[in-house]
Amino acid sequence: MAEKNIERPGGAESNAPPRHIAIILDGNGRWARRRGLPRTAGHAVGSENFRKIATYCKNIGVEYLTVYAFSTENWKRPEDEVKTIMRLLKKYLGEAIDTMERDHIRMKVLGNIEGLPEELRELVKRTDEISARYDGFQANICLNYGGRDEIVRAAMRYAADVKDGRAPEEIDEAAFGSYLYSAGIPDPELLIRPGGEQRLSNFLLWQCAYSEFYFTDVLWPDFTTEELDKAIAEYHRRDRRFGSVK
Ligand code: FPP
Repeated sequence: MAEKNIERPGGAESNAPPRHIAIILDGNGRWARRRGLPRTAGHAVGSENFRKIATYCKNIGVEYLTVYAFSTENWKRPEDEVKTIMRLLKKYLGEAIDTMERDHIRMKVLGNIEGLPEELRELVKRTDEISARYDGFQANICLNYGGRDEIVRAAMRYAADVKDGRAPEEIDEAAFGSYLYSAGIPDPELLIRPGGEQRLSNFLLWQCAYSEFYFTDVLWPDFTTEELDKAIAEYHRRDRRFGSVK
């Protein structure tokens, strides 16, 4: 399952789009405030935009799209905002099930599923079952996700396996990767953060070791397919060396 996943085709020097794009969905609240709307209205438009961008990624040949929708820290937001985000996620996961069957696409939720409301957990189970039947484009939604939390949980699962007899010296980067939520998913070549901030905010800490970062002030609800093309064009201009020399 574990994949050694740097230096792959579809890298910056080929014309192919990145195989895996990760996006931090940021700026929904500001987008709404600037229009005199409640923050929750920004999340609704942001969710719709996820659908547009995911469809575009699939059509241009990106294999994996991973978005940061709800972090382990986002529970600190006002109750009605959290409720709205959960409702939107339910709506979009529910609707995605039909699209998955129609287009043979996969969808995976990365994060601590146990901490999610029951109805969402049910939907995650169904999307997992459907995904197992297909091998096309895969959308990953990070929900109740934290990069450090992911690594700590992986270490705990690994320690449990060692207790059950696994040799500690067997662990290497690929083996450790197979304990992460992202097991079997190649690392993202390109990480995009709209919304003006230039930080990772606990997103894919392990997986982004060699990713190219692209930051833009454009807020997520305004992030169009043209903006995505710009990010990919910028990615193609990067010189990826993976610690080596040319
Ligand atoms: C960041 O904007 C956005 C979020 C924390 C929530 C994103 C969640 C969704 C759009 C729900 C549905 C998602 C999918 C994938 C269907 P912000 O609130 O931090 O904006 P701000 O920085 O302007 O306040």
